[in-house]
Amino acid sequence: MSRAGASPEPSHASGGEPPAPQHVAIIMDGNGRWAKARGLPRTAGHERGVEALRRTVEAAGDLGIKYLTVFSFSTENWRRPAAEVNVLFGLLKAYVQRDLQRLKHEGVRVRIIGQREGLPPDIAELVGRAERETAGNSAFHLTIAFNYGSRNEILRAAEAYARSLREAGDTGPLTEEMFSSFLDTSGLPDPDLMIRTSGEYRISNFLLWQAAYAELLFMDVLWPDFGRAHLEGAIAKYHERERRFGAVVPGAS
Ligand code: FPP
Repeated sequence: MSRAGASPEPSHASGGEPPAPQHVAIIMDGNGRWAKARGLPRTAGHERGVEALRRTVEAAGDLGIKYLTVFSFSTENWRRPAAEVNVLFGLLKAYVQRDLQRLKHEGVRVRIIGQREGLPPDIAELVGRAERETAGNSAFHLTIAFNYGSRNEILRAAEAYARSLREAGDTGPLTEEMFSSFLDTSGLPDPDLMIRTSGEYRISNFLLWQAAYAELLFMDVLWPDFGRAHLEGAIAKYHERERRFGAVVPGAS
């Protein structure tokens, strides 16, 4: 990724391509199938998935995307064998430990969304540190959904809202903006494009509120194989879509 503040001007400024989507969310699926196809343990697919994540963060910054949000452990993934869960926790830890200083230097703001309760203390401490150390950055926003489920997030937001009513009293009608501010993604724009790899057609409890108007793209590539060319292809598909947000496009019959 280009150094903070050195990212190229969007090419549309010079009359070229339209701008990249501001916020891309990715369901990184297919690690297990990638490994199985090679006779490897599922965890080898997750390890290669981290490399695909590194490639994608780099490419996203270069392509003019400002916000990247990835789904790396869901509240439902606890149903997997303990050994696989432990590997996924270990990979998050290793990723933050290895990449934090570089991401910080590149101007990346790191957020980890999801339920903190239930995370082992060392992971909770590490993700807290990653967020604190990058809180002043704004060149690029990497958000990792870990121990995340959208219904769980919405319930926690509703509880936080109810708590605020008890503490501050009634502040008037609850608006979408106000409710959004109680979600883990507070401060982030809604995703413009949501990608799921591996050829499955589901959004699996990811950003249900936030993706209300996201363009959905299901790609036939297993996550460990994902790279810059796939992201470029996804942006090209996004540009073919007509976003109406429920309105009628002027001039349409
Ligand atoms: C889904 O593939 C993927 C996951 C549940 C984990 C995603 C994790 C990574 C990409 C690496 C971890 C990165 C960090 C930073 C922690 P699957 O296992 O369901 O694959 P399958 O559908 O082929 O079985």
